[in-house]
Amino acid sequence: MIIANSTLPDPALPSACTIAIIGSGAMGAGIAQIAASAGHQVKLVDMRADAAKSAIAGIRATYNKLADKGKMRQEQADAAGQRLHVATMDDLADAALVIEAIVENLDAKRELFAQLEAVVSDDCILATNTSSISVTAIGAKLRRPQRLVGMHFFNPVPLMALVEVVSGLASDRAVADTVYATSISWGKSPVHTISTPGFIVNRLARPYYAESLRVATEQAATPATLDAVMRESGGFRMGPFELMDLIGHDVNFSVTCSVFASYFNDQRFTPSLLQQELVNAGFLGRKTGRGFYQYGDNASAVVPQTELPYPAPRHIVLRAQHTVADVLAARLPAQDANTQTPVQRSLFEGEDDTLLQCGLATICITDGRSATQRAADNATPDTVLLDLALDYNRATRIALSRADQCSDAAYQDAVGFFQRAGYTVSTLGDVPGMVVMRTVAMLANEAADAVNQGVCSALAADTAMQKGVNYPLGPLAWADKLGLNTVYNVLKHLSQSYGEDRYRISPLIHRKLASGAQFHG
Ligand code: NAI
Repeated sequence: MIIANSTLPDPALPSACTIAIIGSGAMGAGIAQIAASAGHQVKLVDMRADAAKSAIAGIRATYNKLADKGKMRQEQADAAGQRLHVATMDDLADAALVIEAIVENLDAKRELFAQLEAVVSDDCILATNTSSISVTAIGAKLRRPQRLVGMHFFNPVPLMALVEVVSGLASDRAVADTVYATSISWGKSPVHTISTPGFIVNRLARPYYAESLRVATEQAATPATLDAVMRESGGFRMGPFELMDLIGHDVNFSVTCSVFASYFNDQRFTPSLLQQELVNAGFLGRKTGRGFYQYGDNASAVVPQTELPYPAPRHIVLRAQHTVADVLAARLPAQDANTQTPVQRSLFEGEDDTLLQCGLATICITDGRSATQRAADNATPDTVLLDLALDYNRATRIALSRADQCSDAAYQDAVGFFQRAGYTVSTLGDVPGMVVMRTVAMLANEAADAVNQGVCSALAADTAMQKGVNYPLGPLAWADKLGLNTVYNVLKHLSQSYGEDRYRISPLIHRKLASGAQFHG
């Protein structure tokens, strides 16, 4: 039977409910700002004298700025400001939801929740904003652990849409559903997950940093070059090195170490010696004036490696019936395509992985083998590899790598071709999987494992990475777009090249490939 209108009540807490927030630092204040905007009376508690008061003054100033910019009406700003109140632990009997955003310490959080249970009503929901502590462990000493969930916001809270709603072993699903629906009513994009190390984002994002750190450790390119390729080809908003500099290497390295230790030293998460040295040196990134880059007035600009101009070769054969080759053909200037350099199309029978031949060069999209290996496997010395782009039509820079056997003349033909097609070209050293391809394959692999282990759904994994860290596509949607066979081959070749458990393929990718299914649809 189909019921046209569900009679189930919306589980979101109504705006008439009072919300309490404990801890009025960066996170607590951000949560208070959005909860009061959504119409709740908000009680803010902090152990530091005047901390809650000054947080409220800051939030009111933010509301006024938003009103000045026309993003909120002044009456709304005033009303939301009036809904914020300084409170103590004894004032919380009427709270429907208490969100903890205090120091990241298990004992402190356990002690706080024990105190809270003595003052709040029986049906009050308790939530922790922890980013790294087990929600199960925080709830273990509670009289009613079923009412505790994680409500993991991202910094800055008013701007970042993601909320990870984390269920511990004892959490009641109905409580998680209420927190999920309430997050939506606050304008957020929540995802359900379970209490596992790193939850979704802090686990699934590890390869974003780790693969680039590996490529840099192997001397394949400078951080500036890899950042430029990840942005301009990969479509990521920030490259991994500039992002680590922004986050702070102390913070980023300690998250990696904590995830690594929490997964019992799983090689997937092995930290980087390169980053450890930055921490050892105190080069923590922007906040200390130096990380991978230098900051401040005297810092010299660091530019990505970019090839000098080379002439386009006259002889160009692009693969027929291939979407990337179609894009490349369309990008070649008309006079080249029609007159100077007649572009041919071919199915390259018998050489099924060639994308194009131009001049002396044979160009393929990376499949996780090094160019040198591929040149040997195909008996084609003048092999040049092209890295993955999110969208080859919109990419401004592409990355190439050349086989050790490749002649200078052939490589210059390849560079000249891509320049003629309007790209800036960076050369990477010949590492397996280049940088965008191996990063995307490893992001998808980690997301597939999280789904396989019941940490989250495929949709939640993708939503989390798009809303929590601004990825241009969710890793599993990206895997679907690339084709699971491509992802599988890249991972298989990385595994063969390195012989490390780090590159083991998720059982879910094996299964999807065998059944021909995709992650979505
Ligand atoms: P913060 O240090 O800026 O603020 C913490 C506030 O809690 C301080 O005002 C402190 O006085 C107060 N406080 C500490 N212990 C208290 C107690 N027992 N009772 C009452 N107040 C207490 O910290 P921040 O950055 O706001 O983080 C808070 C929590 O949110 C931490 O658990 C952190 O892991 C988590 N988190 C932080 C993110 C971030 O990017 N900063 C992102 C996601 C989660």
